Amino acid sequence: MENSDAKLKERILSLKTGKNAAILAHNYQLGEIQDIADFVGDSLELSQKAAKTDADVIVFCGVHFMAETAFILSPDKTVLLPDMHAGCPMADMITAEKLRRRKKELPGATVVCYINSSAEVKAESDICCTSANAVKVIESLDAEEILFVPDQYLGHYISTKTDKKISLWPGFCPTHLRIQPQYIIKLRQEYPQSKVVVHPECRPEVIAIADEVLSTGGMCRYAGRSEVKEMVVGTEIGIIHRLRKENPGKKFIPASEQAVCPRMKLITLENVLWSLQEMTPQVEVPEEVRIKAKSAVDRMLAIGMG
Ligand code: 13P
Ligand code: SF4
Repeated sequence: MENSDAKLKERILSLKTGKNAAILAHNYQLGEIQDIADFVGDSLELSQKAAKTDADVIVFCGVHFMAETAFILSPDKTVLLPDMHAGCPMADMITAEKLRRRKKELPGATVVCYINSSAEVKAESDICCTSANAVKVIESLDAEEILFVPDQYLGHYISTKTDKKISLWPGFCPTHLRIQPQYIIKLRQEYPQSKVVVHPECRPEVIAIADEVLSTGGMCRYAGRSEVKEMVVGTEIGIIHRLRKENPGKKFIPASEQAVCPRMKLITLENVLWSLQEMTPQVEVPEEVRIKAKSAVDRMLAIGMG
């Protein structure tokens, strides 16, 4: 098995060079995918990379909205998503049509969409944000009333950090909701010296008992701090591979082994190789939608990190 993985990796890397491709991978990807990537990061870092790379082809190892964001920013490049079924269920909990209806009910509200949304939803929004910069984006707005879509839990977390009035959309991440407060309480007893770090997509009861609430990129930076020796990780377990690789002397404990995003795990070495060989499946966005969505993403990129 290891031998065949090595052969697959070799073929991927040779095709990648031949086609001037860049492999971008999200922190939740399988370890073997992270290991062949040119860059591993969170949604904000990946969108920044996609905007800057001079590769002709981007192989996006993540979920559909991330590949779409790469195309929105770099339409002259070929953006490949090795499995078209790799969609984010939360992003699918809102459509542009439903958002247009809600906007009519809240005519004075500024619409902020989480990057976990389709290009059509971004096109209907004033500005985008990720978990790394959500509070900073909201605070930057010259508006008192915000409609935040689609993650009600990230929206709720932001509402605890700002005086602005935030209307929520009832979306959620099924993976993060698997993390329950009682798991954290138990792990704190088992690892009394540990720091508990959770993602803002977690439920409020989990956030309330965490030491830090961070994006996946923020978690990787936090893990490098000298005082952190043991860390309970409240997010999708794919990130544990990167945390252990970058911090060999430290201990990382998943808050829940059940926190697995099945769609992220659809990307494999086999379909990355096939995708590069066949140059399919490609992610594209109609130009009219792309232009509108790009202005929401560009506004966010101009604000930067949290
Ligand atoms: P990050 O931007 O923190 O990597 O989160 C993306 C995501 O899909 C979380 O579930
Ligand atoms: Fe979507 Fe949750 Fe998977 Fe992130 S972990 S891609 S929010 S379903």
